[in-house]
Amino acid sequence: MASEPVRIALVGLGNVGRRVLTILDEKRSLYRERFGLEFVLAGVADSRGAAWSAEGLDLRRMVSIKEAGGSAADYIGLGQRGVSGLDMLRHCQADVLVEASPVNLADGEPAMSHIRAALERGMHVVTANKGPLALAYPEVMALARERGRRVLFSATVGGGLPAVNVGVRDLCHARVERIEGVLNLTSHSILARLAQGYTFQEALAMAQRDGHAEADPDLDVDGWDAANKLVILANAVLGYPARLSEVRVAGIRGISAKMIQHARQRGNVILLLAVAERRGDGYHLSVQPTEVGAEHPLARLTPVQMGVVYYTDTNGIVAATVDEVDPIPTAGAVVRDLITLYREGLWSGI
Ligand SMILES: NC(=O)c1ccc[n+]([C@@H]2O[C@H](COP(=O)([O-])OP(=O)(O)OC[C@H]3O[C@@H](n4cnc5c(N)ncnc54)[C@H](OP(=O)(O)O)[C@@H]3O)[C@@H](O)[C@H]2O)c1
Repeated sequence: MASEPVRIALVGLGNVGRRVLTILDEKRSLYRERFGLEFVLAGVADSRGAAWSAEGLDLRRMVSIKEAGGSAADYIGLGQRGVSGLDMLRHCQADVLVEASPVNLADGEPAMSHIRAALERGMHVVTANKGPLALAYPEVMALARERGRRVLFSATVGGGLPAVNVGVRDLCHARVERIEGVLNLTSHSILARLAQGYTFQEALAMAQRDGHAEADPDLDVDGWDAANKLVILANAVLGYPARLSEVRVAGIRGISAKMIQHARQRGNVILLLAVAERRGDGYHLSVQPTEVGAEHPLARLTPVQMGVVYYTDTNGIVAATVDEVDPIPTAGAVVRDLITLYREGLWSGI
């Protein structure tokens, strides 16, 4: 099969970005044979610099540089120190931006500017970064429509959990009365490890070691990361133009090992539950520690699982879970979006 080159510009070479490159490298021949797609790394940027090339950068070399603690700027002959992601996007010829820089809930930057610049330059966007969509979903999608490009974001809600795709695609005919989700792995694993006798700080350090925690882990433990994801689901699945400011948010800092043990004695578990509940024409959104009974679809999640439950009119209760031992499923979701963009005949989605 003749292969179609897809030129990628990647911003952010951390836990997620590096693993995206590894998957694209290791599955190169599979994607060529199965989809006729040849992914070319046209440009990369991290916090210290950038590199780009019309011929394409070597994926494995870029991963090795990052694993050794280096920067995109260290790519011999093509890297430039102090060049921003935005500058890289202006220089490199790419078909699609992959955004994997850290979340910023103040103004969504620098990801917001990266996404705008990419759309204005005629690129599609695949983002793992929730910030711009949690803050400005309608605006981002309007710009994409205006430019005739697409923004895919299935990695933003629960990493490898197919929460967005199940909601948008598989329940498109149904009315969703309620969404419940355990959408933040760091806080979920902390609750589980508190129950095992670890301290809060030890449990947080373990989540950071596994690559799940946000660059700013307060976003995880204070509930804001889960709130971001809920806002994205509300916009994408419910068609409800939710804003982050309307989500009632409480994190897990007030939950002690004793409270978890008492809940257990009652046969229950405490989850940081994100909920969107239909009220009249709109939805009420909340994120808070919630005690649920053993019969709840998410009660049996392990410390490395996240999950989502849709309560619908025609399809009853639809639930999905994912194991995220490390960020590979998240990187896989980014690659899934890349393939979805280009594979002819595959569901074209949002
Ligand atoms: N980790 C997960 O399990 C997971 C799951 C779903 C979604 N996400 C989202 O994916 C995104 C990336 O997460 P991560 O875990 O990979 O983060 P990370 O390990 O902290 O990596 C962030 C990367 O972004 C780079 N960066 C920082 N500031 C930048 C800037 N101003 N311009 C360009 N690049 C910049 C960093 O550069 P340096 O390498 O130079 O430090 C690093 O390469 C986040 O938005 C996160 O919310 C993560």
